[in-house]
Amino acid sequence: MTEIKIIGIVGSPRKGNTEIMVFETLEGARARGAETEMILLSNKNIKFCRGSEESEYDDMNEISKKMGEAKGIVIGSPTYFDNVSGLLKNFIDRTLPLYETGKLKGKFLAVTVVGEADMQSINRVVDYLKIFGEICEMKFVGSVSAIAGAPGSVREDENKIQELRQLGERMLEVIKKAKEVKKDVV
Ligand SMILES: Cc1cc2nc3c(=O)[nH]c(=O)nc-3n(C[C@H](O)[C@H](O)[C@H](O)COP(=O)(O)O)c2cc1C
Repeated sequence: MTEIKIIGIVGSPRKGNTEIMVFETLEGARARGAETEMILLSNKNIKFCRGSEESEYDDMNEISKKMGEAKGIVIGSPTYFDNVSGLLKNFIDRTLPLYETGKLKGKFLAVTVVGEADMQSINRVVDYLKIFGEICEMKFVGSVSAIAGAPGSVREDENKIQELRQLGERMLEVIKKAKEVKKDVV
């Protein structure tokens, strides 16, 4: 049986809380048998979207292929002025061809968001990422939000780490169930 692929997209430009949150979510799924991969957008060369994808060739080609192969996608962002980071927004804009060709349709989405101020600010980011999923007709599995400021400080909250792992476990379970339902129908 082929393994279920789940990829994580880290939308922070620094090595910090978002990376930990995406890593732990993936870890929950990996420990239960998923094949996981984490992509750090900060290490990638992704040009701005200009609405003319044919002329672009950069790391987005490789990431798009991976997104197409994955059943589940975890997106992590820091909160920047009540929004996603520019790094992540640029990536989202470049998913336009995936959206247009329906390649994200039916995939499962989980979201992790961190901010240092308050939940209202963080929730706006979660809501936005949910909207992105809705636009692409993805299936929303759940989200984990955390309040943390200093890089890496989210790791001090053991309950939060557990919550993240459970999100990953849940994503894998939901994907497995959906597969079984499909098998029953055929
Ligand atoms: C440009 C910028 C804007 C920020 N705006 C907010 C904000 O609106 N609300 C909030 O709660 N935290 C805000 N923060 C704090 C970060 O979300 C917080 O430090 C988070 O832990 C960063 O995640 P990272 O460690 O993954 O980079 C901002 C940080 C930066 C650099």
